[in-house]
Amino acid sequence: MHWCRIGVLCLLFVAAQSVDIVTNCNSHHIYRSYGNHHWEAVFLDCSGHWWTKESLPALPVNCTVETLLLNNNHLSGLPASYFENQTDIGKLEFESNRFLEIPEDTLQDLNVTMDLNFKGNDVRDIKLKNILAVKSLNLADNKFEALKPSYFNNLPFLEVLTLDGNQIKVIENDTFQSLVLLKSLSLSGTHIYELPGHPFANLSKLTNLDLSNNMLSGLQKSDFVGLRNLEKLILTNNRIKSIESAVFTELASLTSLRMDRNDLEVLESDVFVGLEAKLQHLHLQYNWLIEIDDAISGLANLIRLVLTYNPIVRIPNAGNMTSLIILGVTGTRI
Ligand SMILES: *[C@@H]1O[C@H](CO)[C@@H](O)[C@H](O)[C@H]1NC(C)=O
Ligand SMILES: *[C@@H]1O[C@H](CO)[C@@H](O)[C@H](O)[C@H]1NC(C)=O
Ligand SMILES: *[C@@H]1O[C@H](CO)[C@@H](O)[C@H](O)[C@H]1NC(C)=O
Ligand SMILES: *[C@@H]1O[C@H](CO)[C@@H](O)[C@H](O)[C@H]1NC(C)=O
Ligand SMILES: *[C@@H]1O[C@H](CO)[C@@H](O)[C@H](O)[C@H]1NC(C)=O
Ligand SMILES: *[C@@H]1O[C@H](CO)[C@@H](O)[C@H](O)[C@H]1NC(C)=O
Repeated sequence: MHWCRIGVLCLLFVAAQSVDIVTNCNSHHIYRSYGNHHWEAVFLDCSGHWWTKESLPALPVNCTVETLLLNNNHLSGLPASYFENQTDIGKLEFESNRFLEIPEDTLQDLNVTMDLNFKGNDVRDIKLKNILAVKSLNLADNKFEALKPSYFNNLPFLEVLTLDGNQIKVIENDTFQSLVLLKSLSLSGTHIYELPGHPFANLSKLTNLDLSNNMLSGLQKSDFVGLRNLEKLILTNNRIKSIESAVFTELASLTSLRMDRNDLEVLESDVFVGLEAKLQHLHLQYNWLIEIDDAISGLANLIRLVLTYNPIVRIPNAGNMTSLIILGVTGTRI
């Protein structure tokens, strides 16, 4: 190659063009079978390669990639039609890259049910009108400042949504209304101070809701309307002081309630109405509670009751709690 006088540059150029992604990444084979049909797929971990949109090697054409991890690279986008030869990728991770938006045009070549992870990028807006098959979507630690109702309108199969660490502040009434199959929603550390309307009204399949590390100062009955299958509610580390009576009545499936690290001083006697049949774990540590007997008297199925670091002065009447195994009272005034 006569024109290639500057040898090193030339070598770099040739190398960049021919990098084989399989031999450059950690990979292993996965053997699958369905009835009489057997096939082999590849798990590819290409994390931490400093790859950019321009230097990202092409995907292999001689095998089926099932999982592709591209975490900790420098990707701000993907090459055009990057997945045209690999439409069966089921799990894709792009944690800690430089995406400003989700490369929807490229991703729409994928047509299987997908786990998609864009944690730790700079995404502030999404459209996602064509990626219908996403089952789990991680958008934690991005740059969202509000959630528009349209964001999640085209993800009918979504079961797990993580939005931790974005500055969302307020949830609009209809943001999540079309996510009728959602099972797990995580909104930890999102600066939420208010839940106007009935934000979770259509989430009848939801089993886990994490609202920890926010700025909620009160709970209203309307907040949890529609969550009839919720099993685990996490309200740890908010500023909750006031709770409307019978606020949890719709949560007949709840087994675990965390309200630790809030500003609770008084719990009215009807605060836990509706939770009698199922509630097993109740965390109230690090509040300002002095007396809770009336509030918990109906919770006959509690296994764990944590009251540590409250100014409580006597052990609560546990006469009805025949299942109680763990009672935390360290740091109280008992
Ligand atoms: C596919 O081709 C790559 C080279 O591009 C090679 O390393 C790999 O072994 C091949 N895999 C199969 C299953 O043939
Ligand atoms: C898909 O495969 C064809 C044929 O091997 C190849 O020419 C093309 O560059 C591949 N596309 C991508 C995006 O890798
Ligand atoms: C997925 O891709 C395969 C082959 O590429 C195609 O036959 C099938 O119809 C596609 N499925 C959907 C739901 O688009
Ligand atoms: C709420 O869910 C029901 C079915 O469970 C559905 O018919 C309705 O369209 C949903 N509402 C919205 C706004 O998507
Ligand atoms: C929220 O939706 C409910 C019905 O689902 C409606 O009654 C209420 O007025 C709405 N609130 C707001 C603030 O839009
Ligand atoms: C046990 O529960 C019943 C009904 O919830 C209540 O009336 C009663 O006072 C409770 N007993 C004790 C010892 O707390």
